[in-house]
Amino acid sequence: MSFDRRIKIAPSILSADFANFGAECRAIEAQGCDWVHVDVMDGHFVPNLTFGPAMCAAIRPHIKGVMDVHLMIAPVDPYIEAFAAAGADVITAHLEAGPHIHRTLQAIRGTGRKAGLALNPGTGLDAVSHLLDLLDLVCIMTVNPGFGGQKFIASQVDKVRDLRAMIGDRPIHIEIDGGVTPETAPLVAAAGADVLVAGSAVFKGGSVDNPEPYGANIRAIRAAAEASLGQAFAAK
Ligand code: DX5
Ligand code: ZN
Repeated sequence: MSFDRRIKIAPSILSADFANFGAECRAIEAQGCDWVHVDVMDGHFVPNLTFGPAMCAAIRPHIKGVMDVHLMIAPVDPYIEAFAAAGADVITAHLEAGPHIHRTLQAIRGTGRKAGLALNPGTGLDAVSHLLDLLDLVCIMTVNPGFGGQKFIASQVDKVRDLRAMIGDRPIHIEIDGGVTPETAPLVAAAGADVLVAGSAVFKGGSVDNPEPYGANIRAIRAAAEASLGQAFAAK
């Protein structure tokens, strides 16, 4: 997995057909997505339950590219090895999930996987400056985690811009998660994000038997994001 700051679209399979995850992963990759985003929820850190490492291992053979695992669980550390063994390429833990995020990121790096740090909308960037050497990705949540289909929280765009400045030339991805659509993607792309997670906006209108809408949705988000970059560069 080499570093690439181009816009990447990462559909969240939280919006996929739960009875058909393997086929859904193959369909979104065939329709042009870059990463596959897997939302792990524990009914404790967030008010919803989804799936665990066994499901990640089951879908891994159906994903050719990056499997991006977003852990909305507390505690995190007892499960890191299991998600690494399940084939996650990126393992992201929440800053708010416990008192020892530095140790958690070290443990993720220790498995040889890329380490991500997610921040809830109410969390500031202060701690990130002390963790930069351990990070491959920072995920800015643009909804409160727990459910797909929520409204984008626009106040987070300034946070993305500040994070972009903090990261400088370091090879750290900025991921946006929640409420990403062709309308909101340009705001975060222009502010410096490169990985755009989208659940409902990718899966709407399609199915494994009719996957073309997935491709149209992915292209619409990507085109809107890239157009904002063109404008940002043109303005300089
Ligand atoms: C929210 C999840 C997101 C979510 C995105 O807790 O982490 O990945 O599924 O869904 P949309 O794009 O529908 O907001
Ligand atoms: Zn997510």
